[in-house]
Amino acid sequence: MAEEKSVQVEMQAIRQSALDALSRAVDEASLQQWRIAHLGKSAPVMQIFTRIGQFAPEDRPKVGAAANQVKNALEQAYSSRETEIKQASLQQSLEQERLDVTLPGRKPVQGRLHIQTQTMREVYRVFAEMGFQVYRTRDVETDEYNFELLNIPAYHPARDMWDTYYTTKPGVLLRTHTSPGQVHVMRERAPEPIRVILPGMCYRYEQVDARHEIQFTQIEVLAVGRNITFGDLKGTLDNFARRMFGQNVHTRLRPSYFPFTEPSAELDVECFVCGGKGCGVCKGSGWLEILGCGMVHPVVLQNGGYDPREFSGFAAGMGPERISMLRHKIDDIRYFWGNDVRFLEQF
Ligand code: PHE
Repeated sequence: MAEEKSVQVEMQAIRQSALDALSRAVDEASLQQWRIAHLGKSAPVMQIFTRIGQFAPEDRPKVGAAANQVKNALEQAYSSRETEIKQASLQQSLEQERLDVTLPGRKPVQGRLHIQTQTMREVYRVFAEMGFQVYRTRDVETDEYNFELLNIPAYHPARDMWDTYYTTKPGVLLRTHTSPGQVHVMRERAPEPIRVILPGMCYRYEQVDARHEIQFTQIEVLAVGRNITFGDLKGTLDNFARRMFGQNVHTRLRPSYFPFTEPSAELDVECFVCGGKGCGVCKGSGWLEILGCGMVHPVVLQNGGYDPREFSGFAAGMGPERISMLRHKIDDIRYFWGNDVRFLEQF
């Protein structure tokens, strides 16, 4: 027969050592380990219950009651320790993870539109106010549209004005200017009147330097109708220059030559850097060249499906990179399509 007295002593020891161990449990993990060791199936106090049959029948209720007491005491100690630990870990996270609202934030890197997208959108806006639609045509063109239909036959010396990238397919090339778009629109719209601008990338087989790039954008302007005169061309371009560069800017037209316009001219605007006095940007002349223009050549009107005896039109072609360079005093055209974000981020 097991001794009731000695098991009472044993239970006090079990209780004491469990409570000692509990005070060393400092976090959730060690607390769970403690619960398995001291209240789980094989915990010492639970073993007492399996041994009850070994005691004298009159001692069994005493042993059972005492074991229950120890078990209850341990359960209670466990739950109050659990509350303590949870409280402590909450306190700790409140203190350590405190938000310092005075710390300056990190600015997210902001994307932006390419400088040419900005300049071109400004040009679209100005022409939209004058009733011009944006019309796009393709970058890969045929010799026919890029040259022939624009009154530049194969033998024509004016072909020297455009150094061309040809593809391996005969007659297919990268457009050297946006002018082939003129014929595309005319053929689509004839005999309706036309008021469009044609923006896009152009390509030329150039020796690249500060003023020449193998790719650049152009914006073509085209108006076709029954009574369009050179006065309309001048008025439209003056209006554009004032809206784009300022109300008081002066302009002048200089005679020029293009095979697809007759007469042809170039538009200069008064240098908006020095106001016409002469400076480094305008090379002392007081004027900046902005675009080429003229009255649409009768041959081109005919190629577009308009009878030149009834219809007339004007056309112009500008280089938006040039506008950006003049405005921002950019001295090298290679920056535009070189994809250096240090340059692009400035605009
Ligand atoms: N296409 C001409 C060029 O690239 C510019 C131009 C367009 C001139 C329309 C007159 C009329 O130089």
